[in-house]
Amino acid sequence: MKLAPAGPAPARSASNRTPFVELKDLSMEYDLTADARLLALDRVACSIAESEFCAIVGPSGCGKSTLLMLTAGLYHPSAGQVVIDGRPVIGPWDGVGMVFQRDLLLEWRTVLENVLLPVEVKRLPRSEFEGRARSLLRLVGLAGFEGAYPEQLSIGMRQRVGICRALVHDPVLLLMDEPFASVDLLTREKLGLDLLRLTAEHPKTVLFVTHSVEEAVLLSDEVVVLGPRPGRILRRLENDLPKPRTLASRSDARFHRLVDEIRGAFQAAGVLS
Ligand SMILES: Nc1ncnc2c1ncn2[C@@H]1O[C@H](COP(=O)(O)OP(=O)(O)OP(=O)(O)O)[C@@H](O)[C@H]1O
Ligand SMILES: [Mg+2]
Repeated sequence: MKLAPAGPAPARSASNRTPFVELKDLSMEYDLTADARLLALDRVACSIAESEFCAIVGPSGCGKSTLLMLTAGLYHPSAGQVVIDGRPVIGPWDGVGMVFQRDLLLEWRTVLENVLLPVEVKRLPRSEFEGRARSLLRLVGLAGFEGAYPEQLSIGMRQRVGICRALVHDPVLLLMDEPFASVDLLTREKLGLDLLRLTAEHPKTVLFVTHSVEEAVLLSDEVVVLGPRPGRILRRLENDLPKPRTLASRSDARFHRLVDEIRGAFQAAGVLS
């Protein structure tokens, strides 16, 4: 894991409100040409507690993917800092699992071999992780498909394989960039609830980017609402929707109140007008 070589991380308190991911006045400016720059993110500051599921919503182009890439250490911020578990991120680090909109499965590898890819890349002992890979596949309803090839799966099944692959090496942080955008609404809700079951069984801190306000509210513990580019935090909302969440959670008055609050924040920022 490539965080700062700054000694051991501070001891974590018993409270699960201890910040785990800290975004400290994070700004990102891209070079477009020799003399044109684009400010994508502007002084984003927030912290996310350990094992919390944080949904990030915002209009297209406001810097959501950029935010995830900075958190993964794949991009360097123009200003500010990402701190994980007390240590600054200074480059790509091992404790991250990532899921993108496209599943990026390798067509020539079986489902099980796709899930075990991070184990191979990180040179971890396969014997220790194969059982975990199989158990993750079972948890998302893919028992029996271990030997299948990606082309034999539906889009939703492929996306589930991608999620198992992101979790197989037991990362401390799961970064998800619109992971369910390419599936139909029913499958999408089912995948979301599968994800909640997985993260209940294997607790993870999750940053989950979505365009869907409803999906953000159904899945999260808190919602970060970003405004139009350059992305800034418009609002942060604690999500008090009771758990365990089910499709029926969408009928809860709190669900509608939160959805309305988020839409209100977008409207006030001129995003929905
Ligand atoms: N590598 C890059 N070089 C230059 N500009 C970039 C680069 N990556 C992103 N941008 C710009 O930064 C802004 C934010 O992009 P980003 O992909 O983070 O937005 P987003 O919120 O994820 O959008 P979407 O919801 O459409 O996925 C956009 O205006 C985009 O054009
Ligand atoms: Mg994006």
